[in-house]
Amino acid sequence: MNRNAPAVALLESRGTAPAFIEQAREDPTMKHPKYENIKVESSGGITRVTLNRPDKRNAMSPALDREMLECILSLEGDPETRVLVLAGAGEAWSAGMDLKLYFRELDNDPTGRIKAEWTTHQWRWYRLYNFPKPTIAMVNGYCFGGAFTQLIACDFAIAADTAQFGLSEINWGVIPGGLVSKVLGICMNYRDSMYYSLTGHKFDAAQAERMGLINKSVPAAALEKETMALAEHLVRLNPEALRATKQAVKAVRDMSVDQAHEYLMAKTGQLSFRDRENGYATGIKQFIDDKSYRPGMEPYSRKA
Ligand code: COA
Repeated sequence: MNRNAPAVALLESRGTAPAFIEQAREDPTMKHPKYENIKVESSGGITRVTLNRPDKRNAMSPALDREMLECILSLEGDPETRVLVLAGAGEAWSAGMDLKLYFRELDNDPTGRIKAEWTTHQWRWYRLYNFPKPTIAMVNGYCFGGAFTQLIACDFAIAADTAQFGLSEINWGVIPGGLVSKVLGICMNYRDSMYYSLTGHKFDAAQAERMGLINKSVPAAALEKETMALAEHLVRLNPEALRATKQAVKAVRDMSVDQAHEYLMAKTGQLSFRDRENGYATGIKQFIDDKSYRPGMEPYSRKA
């Protein structure tokens, strides 16, 4: 069954179904378009999006950013995408913004600069940070400067022990701009943010794990296996509960205690309205009545 059907019906009844949802309704397998700067592959509910400019260490050019925005918008409504993995081709995860194409070539093009800033900000923050399904950064190599934005926007980050991280902006005379200086505060403490922003020193995955910037540093040879194990675990969980949980954890960060309480009560109600498999009642029944599982130990059994 097309899992988008209820949302599509609701949007259609309001006359607001966007084109990509239409596409998902007609073609639930929704073949991914061919892109020049990124690669998109889906299997078993997991969609891997790979920044694919290995010769340029996956630096983000305006063209790459445009493709990422189009891609991520289509994946939001793609029923075959239950978990998104963000990867990098070749030696790097991403060497940050493209210093030539994103910066220098737009120095005398104010309109182009505004469009490029809007596009990169849209996909890396608004769309990725708020993506309605779990997201995992699979960091295979270099992660510099602007790449911290999508690193922190992802819900999880697993890195190869060979990966190298750096807030390198100071090394070429600028500040960690875009949104980097702001979002560092989500995952790094004040002292580490200051130290690495001001010195430009790079650090490895083990240090990134100690700081809490990533969940885990793993041997490079195990990166794929560890990331996919996490993705496969997430695919098996109730997607509506996952969506509500990530939205809740993110949204309450900037609320007062009273606002957070009110929001979480409302979000709980919204989840029970949206969750067509009724995970709440099913989970309690399997524990209390059927005694077939313990919620502290594992998820309830879902129908395929
Ligand atoms: N912008 C534009 N081009 C970049 C780039 C970037 N951020 N990062 C790498 N490249 C390009 C290089 O110019 C080079 O292009 P060329 O082959 O046409 O000369 C190619 O990618 C390979 O880079 P190179 O420096 O030779 O590779 P390396 O493996 O020795 O080093 C890095 C990799 C990531 C350490 C190094 O490229 C680097 O310091 N990049 C800039 C990182 C940075 O400060 N990013 C912050 C941007 S916000």
